[in-house]
Amino acid sequence: MKEKVKIKILARVLYEVLNHRVSIDVAFKRACKGVRLQGTDEREYLYELARMFVSDYQKLQCVLGRTKSLSKLVRAWLRGVSDEGLPPYCRLSYSKWFYDRVTSLLGKEEGEQLLASMNERVWWLRINTLKAPEERVLKLLESEGVEYVIDREYPFLLRIKKTPKPIRLLRPVKNYMAIPQDKASVAVVDVLSPGAGELIVDMAAAPGMKTSLIMMLTENRAKIVAIDISYRRILLMKNLLKKLGIDLSQVHLVASDSARIKLPRHPDKVLLDAPCSNSGAVSKDPALKISLTEGKIKYYASKQAELLRNAIQLGRVIVYSVCSIMPEEGELVISLFKDRVTLEKTLKWASSGYKGLPLSDRVMRLFPHKHLTEGFFIAKILAE
Ligand SMILES: C[S@@+](CC[C@H](N)C(=O)[O-])C[C@H]1O[C@@H](n2cnc3c(N)ncnc32)[C@H](O)[C@@H]1O
Repeated sequence: MKEKVKIKILARVLYEVLNHRVSIDVAFKRACKGVRLQGTDEREYLYELARMFVSDYQKLQCVLGRTKSLSKLVRAWLRGVSDEGLPPYCRLSYSKWFYDRVTSLLGKEEGEQLLASMNERVWWLRINTLKAPEERVLKLLESEGVEYVIDREYPFLLRIKKTPKPIRLLRPVKNYMAIPQDKASVAVVDVLSPGAGELIVDMAAAPGMKTSLIMMLTENRAKIVAIDISYRRILLMKNLLKKLGIDLSQVHLVASDSARIKLPRHPDKVLLDAPCSNSGAVSKDPALKISLTEGKIKYYASKQAELLRNAIQLGRVIVYSVCSIMPEEGELVISLFKDRVTLEKTLKWASSGYKGLPLSDRVMRLFPHKHLTEGFFIAKILAE
């Protein structure tokens, strides 16, 4: 590939992330518009390069200082940048406030381990038993040269060790027989423990990954009211659920604000996988290293409190989760309701909440450096 094209695309990706605060996927799509690439291989190669480049942005800033020319940054990065002598936040390539926050929560050594682990992506694939039996999917993956480990907690879940091509291009993934889904996301549904015949309200449902797992685990026999504030995302979800083999007659899709919605009767269970800062998903989207701010965390914390307040009105058994490592979106949201709820720590293999915070021994946290998952907070709440 021509060096000029490479530099142009990487600079455009960074421009999109810096100026429009979009995810790496959106930035890459926009950056490639109008550029002729030689097939899938070239595109995938560039995408991986863009991920690494954006991930290294803070480090580059430390080495080169503020420079207006994004192409200059790309060129310097392509030549290689030494991290010798840099302070740890630069070496790990995070903004200083984020580094300070994480190390104040976990201590320097463990905090740095967590930050380093978020610089690597771990891939999980959930076998979609609604589409094909496990053995068939495993054989298909093996025939494509994929190496995997079957998860200890969830036998339908695989950790991918090696793949000759990008996950989304594997045949079982293209056929919806296997779905990329992080183990933490599966753990949330495990805590919900859905049963056949139960009525479940999913208060922040799109794009539908957890709804689809609930339906897989109950063999399409749960009844779900799936709510999302975004009509566009609800439409995408409907499409996806169809492709994943979900019985749509059992899923009632609603575009509405879950902070205000009222229901005619109490469901058996409520899932609130709340909108959040995504600070636990840096490994999936390195653009978060740039776009995450303390203001965003505050904003989401207040949204989460509004949503949880209504969740406690709607049902008696509630699972609250966020893909965030920030206590403002986890322990501190739950503690607002501490007089009205009981908490159950059901996942034995999960960590507890951050030490020294209210209720921390009764909530669950999953960490990239410990559990090889995204950073997640999960609480099982029994409302009075
Ligand atoms: C973390 S995502 C949910 C992911 C989903 N549970 C899954 O597993 O695929 C959060 C979702 O909450 C939705 N959302 C944000 N505010 C909302 C509100 N007030 N009411 C309902 N949905 C909301 C967003 O549109 C977004 O789709």
